[in-house]
Amino acid sequence: MKAIYLSFTAILISFGISQVDIKQPESEKANYSALADTSEFDQKKAIAKLREQIKGLENEPSDEVYKNIQMLNRVPAGRLISIMEMGYSRSLGVTCIHCHDPENWSSDEKAEKIITREMSKMVGQINNNLLADIEALGDRTAIVNCTTCHRGQKKPALNMDDN
Ligand code: HEC
Ligand code: HEC
Repeated sequence: MKAIYLSFTAILISFGISQVDIKQPESEKANYSALADTSEFDQKKAIAKLREQIKGLENEPSDEVYKNIQMLNRVPAGRLISIMEMGYSRSLGVTCIHCHDPENWSSDEKAEKIITREMSKMVGQINNNLLADIEALGDRTAIVNCTTCHRGQKKPALNMDDN
């Protein structure tokens, strides 16, 4: 996955995709953020539902399909979901609910979502500035991404025994 950095002008076109109908009893909702990542949330189902909701718009830019896109603006809407699944969830070893309330995907209430935008900026700086400046690497495709550090963990390891 190559992170894409574009303007922060989000064109907020509502497509009504925030109302994902995951049935939960009211009592559980309150505890929602305390849920362990893999417990009751059905990621496959959530993804299938989202794909259904954006049907026909898969190739449109994300900022014209979703509500609150500040970074992946021109990424095709269908690909955004793959980035969420493979680029983010899998590389951190979490599900969508680590960063989202699945009943309101566009919300920025979770710190992990905000951190992810900053992490992406950092990855962009490493790739575009720091790695690109190591001349002796020549024309090798030297890139880092979320997996490079996280390797399926929320907190990257600091020594070999952590792996
Ligand atoms: C590590 C954090 C993280 C994980 C895990 C994650 N997302 Fe996201 N998601 C984000 C960020 C950050 C954005 C906003 C991107 C931007 O501003 O360009 C986003 C945006 C979205 C949007 C657009 C919402 C809108 O209307 O603006 C959808 C839909 C979405 N994610 C679905 C998912 C799904 C489905 C999963 C699980 C397969 C998932 N996300 C996992 C961080 C995450
Ligand atoms: C250069 C290494 C590196 C890369 C690359 C990297 N991260 Fe991180 N990330 C870290 C470190 C270090 C922390 C802080 C861990 C700690 O001490 O809590 C962190 C923390 C996070 C957290 C908060 C963890 C939590 O659950 O509290 C999120 C979310 C996150 N990173 C997402 C990402 C995503 C998404 C990407 C790819 C766009 C990414 N990171 C790329 C090093 C990295």
